[in-house]
Amino acid sequence: MSGPPIERILFTEEQIDQRIREVAADISTKYAGRELKLIGVLKGSVYFLTALSRELTIPVKIDFLAISSFANQRGAPGLVRIAKDLDESIEGEDVMLVEDIIDTGFTTRYLLQHLAGRGPNSLALCTLLDRTSRRLVQVPIEFRCFEIPDRFVAGFGLDHKQLYRNLKYIAVVGMG
Ligand code: IMP
Ligand code: MG
Repeated sequence: MSGPPIERILFTEEQIDQRIREVAADISTKYAGRELKLIGVLKGSVYFLTALSRELTIPVKIDFLAISSFANQRGAPGLVRIAKDLDESIEGEDVMLVEDIIDTGFTTRYLLQHLAGRGPNSLALCTLLDRTSRRLVQVPIEFRCFEIPDRFVAGFGLDHKQLYRNLKYIAVVGMG
């Protein structure tokens, strides 16, 4: 059986763990004395949210939403719909949207607007990966682990045709 079409490893397991610890420390400092609700976007951000949450030293709650799959295709900007909404209210809470990757920014902008309409006390954005070279709409990123080049990547939650989410590293993959 052949392995994933890995072209190049961008970030190793050690690099990812180290960077997540750094960002988690920054978040814990900023939210010291408060409780934070992390909102993950299924499925890509599950691995990142889990790892990040385990490094936070503040009290944390988690919730998830899912967006319709056609919005996950590159090249379909703006087509976003909520497929699964939050389980619980975020009214009055300090909320952080946790993303796997921000590419054009359309998905994230839509989700931020959706969450802002639910009356949180505060709303921040944290992303594992940021591909600013493809940004079409601006979104305010408070916390970011890595900037990446304009290549399709997979691993640590990110998929290629639903595969490779479970890779411990992040790699550039062939698009075949
Ligand atoms: P945006 O709306 O263009 O920012 O798209 C963001 C979404 O596209 C992400 O949440 C991913 O689901 C998907 N995506 C964008 N680039 C990649 C990639 O390189 N690998 C895997 N998924 C990606
Ligand atoms: Mg995603």
